[in-house]
Amino acid sequence: MTWIAPGRVNLIGEHTDYAGGLALPVAIDRSVVVAGKPAADRIRLHSERFDETVTVALDGVGPEDGWGRRLAGVVAELAALGREPVGFDGTIAGDLPAGAGLGSSGAFGVAIAKALSSVAGLELPPLELVETCRRAEARSTGVPCGALDQAAAVLGRPGHALVLDCSSLEHRLVPLPDDLAVLVADSGIHRRLEETAYADRRRELEAGHSRRVRHIESENERVQAAVVALERDDRAALAEILAAGQASLRDDYEVSIPELDCLVEEALRAGAFAARLTGAGFGGCVIALADAGRAPAVVAALSRRYAVFRAV
Ligand code: GLA
Repeated sequence: MTWIAPGRVNLIGEHTDYAGGLALPVAIDRSVVVAGKPAADRIRLHSERFDETVTVALDGVGPEDGWGRRLAGVVAELAALGREPVGFDGTIAGDLPAGAGLGSSGAFGVAIAKALSSVAGLELPPLELVETCRRAEARSTGVPCGALDQAAAVLGRPGHALVLDCSSLEHRLVPLPDDLAVLVADSGIHRRLEETAYADRRRELEAGHSRRVRHIESENERVQAAVVALERDDRAALAEILAAGQASLRDDYEVSIPELDCLVEEALRAGAFAARLTGAGFGGCVIALADAGRAPAVVAALSRRYAVFRAV
């Protein structure tokens, strides 16, 4: 059997999740896939990416570093929810780049949680799956993340943006216009969030740092405006909203880096009508929105220097 969880881009609403704010992610057509079957008394998973097999006890005792700690985190959270002690033998693979700001850790946890729940007959309601996987990620990596990536992986649907209220996980889907291309350009600067200032930003925000707070407040307004703009298919408004979002991440939240600012400029010069970094920042990817007819030209122009793909 196989279980799949998609990566995501976030159209707008960055770093708002752990502040109980709004976000507008889109599940993309790159994903993490777990394949496997029930086994006797332990959980064994082979990662194709790392060419490594990890074993975790049914109570979640396992590796404390590397990708295996994420597996152990999910196993432990599911055990705490009363998952029957059913073992698993399988592989994890997929075509979602890791550390690129495309929600790969979230998708990784969700794919594993779906597989392990399924073989043990545990039926988690979607929002509980989201929250369980968020806790597993925070527990295993120490990154005090919100639920954006897990929510996009569980609740996102192809061709739709997910309007997400992170205070309650209330959500609804908004269809994307057919002729809107969502492109992803990878800066090539990959990172692990625990090695960035991600946790510092959250601390600064909670301590009331004025520019950090200003970013969250203005970003929540931008999400609301972006939902209206999407529903009206108002691309000029989307362009302004994404530009303001990029500036706020650069100046107020200070999570952009010159390479991402530059890639945003290049995407706009190449013919995208809107662009900004997506995900936590500090590296990773930029999203570029383009009229579908122009998308091949934008991809061609950016592909000379970056890995680019059409995500939606
Ligand atoms: C990462 C985290 C998310 C979220 C984003 C920024 O993807 O995992 O919880 O905070 O950064 O919006």
